[in-house]
Amino acid sequence: MTPISLGIHGGAGRLGRHILALALEDARFSLGTVMVREGSAAQGQDVGVLAGVKPVGLLAAADLRDLLDCDVVIDVSSPAAGAKLATFLARHGQAKLVTGTTGWNKAEDQILSEAAARIALLRTGNFSLGVTALVRQVRENAARLGQAWGVHIHDIHHSAKKGCPLWHSINAGPGSIPGLGKRYKPALPVGGGGLAGHTQSR
Ligand SMILES: NC(=O)c1ccc[n+]([C@@H]2O[C@H](COP(=O)([O-])OP(=O)(O)OC[C@H]3O[C@@H](n4cnc5c(N)ncnc54)[C@H](OP(=O)(O)O)[C@@H]3O)[C@@H](O)[C@H]2O)c1
Repeated sequence: MTPISLGIHGGAGRLGRHILALALEDARFSLGTVMVREGSAAQGQDVGVLAGVKPVGLLAAADLRDLLDCDVVIDVSSPAAGAKLATFLARHGQAKLVTGTTGWNKAEDQILSEAAARIALLRTGNFSLGVTALVRQVRENAARLGQAWGVHIHDIHHSAKKGCPLWHSINAGPGSIPGLGKRYKPALPVGGGGLAGHTQSR
């Protein structure tokens, strides 16, 4: 089987490095390009070293054109950088785009929708299949229970985030429920010492 040529956009970030490390040890993928922010310390570094393993002879790039020959690009950068990437790929390439970036504003949402009309594009605020199933269930239940029910979220995983990605997944994007946002009650932040509590939407 021919390996899938993979591009990683945001390859120097926490999630990007993790995906990079996984891709390096998976024969189903060949690394086409690893993109980092132009001018960042990671630019020009060997991507094996970025991933915390031995050098592999591929250097981190910062030019979007380097992604054009990839079969699939995984974006885990920022909404602004991801939107720029989506527009670029839709205009110039055939590469499929998978974006796990979160926090898109309305204008960036619109840019993603326009790109999705031209290239295959998968967007998910959470790569976990279990969370995706949970989000669907919460939406269905919230629709059934009606406006009188408030929504509280105990998110013990994303305790260091500025926003609440789980809430964003439930409340935004295709399939979201009109008016659900008004029912969300920000609660107490997660307590110290790893205690389960509430994650506040900040
Ligand atoms: N879908 C999921 O399951 C999932 C899970 C975890 C996180 N996320 C989301 O994925 C995104 C990244 O998370 P993270 O924790 O890895 O954040 P992070 O550590 O801040 O990584 C983001 C990376 O993107 C880079 N970047 C910024 N602009 C760029 C550009 N124009 N071109 C290439 N790279 C660029 C940043 O570079 P500099 O640092 O040099 O600016 C940084 O290395 C966030 O939106 C986060 O919420 C999604």
